[in-house]
Amino acid sequence: MKLFLDTASVSEIRRMWDVGILDGVTTNPSLVAKEGRLFEEVLREICALGVPSVSAEVVATETPGMLSEGRRLRALDPAIYVKVPMTPAGLKATKVLASEGTRVNMTLVFSATQALLAAKVGAAYVSPFIGRLDDQSQVGMDLIREIVPIYRNYGFKTEVLVASVRHPIHVLEAAKAGADIATMPFSVMEKLVQHPLTDLGLARFLKDWEKVPKG
Ligand code: G3P
Repeated sequence: MKLFLDTASVSEIRRMWDVGILDGVTTNPSLVAKEGRLFEEVLREICALGVPSVSAEVVATETPGMLSEGRRLRALDPAIYVKVPMTPAGLKATKVLASEGTRVNMTLVFSATQALLAAKVGAAYVSPFIGRLDDQSQVGMDLIREIVPIYRNYGFKTEVLVASVRHPIHVLEAAKAGADIATMPFSVMEKLVQHPLTDLGLARFLKDWEKVPKG
């Protein structure tokens, strides 16, 4: 399973990229707004690190605007995936962009039937938002458990990108469900790495090593 960071913070991305566990980055308008920086400048910096998949979202709500924004974003770097919302206009734009060879990440997906439509119009990724479903008292992960077999049934190439991830259990359950990708905040990815017993064990080994005679 590929692990993506859901952030527009270049410093966070650089830190995980340096560790070598990062497969991609997803951004959205809210995450970009938090940085207070020019969108395209941020995207260029992320792509310059060599991150192979960088999702950048259009903000137009009608198909022509989505197409022009999508084409502009795609032209920035070959690593760019254009994020398009799951609306009728978005489905139409995705079909056109996909036919032009642009990889589209269909976002704001909350049902398996929406995911089916994303695959039918040729989206490269589908982004179901599981945390936001959990927030509404609906088990978000059940949606992933529906989408994965539906895609398998028909041999769709669209990858399931689990979004709105809030904690490591979401990542674990997404992996068990066979999702292709999980995108998560920096804090969640950090928690995947850390374990108190690792720290304790290392400290004990180093302390014991002091007692070993040194030639
Ligand atoms: O980037 C889309 C998604 O991951 C947003 O997550 O936490 O705002 O629901 P969240």
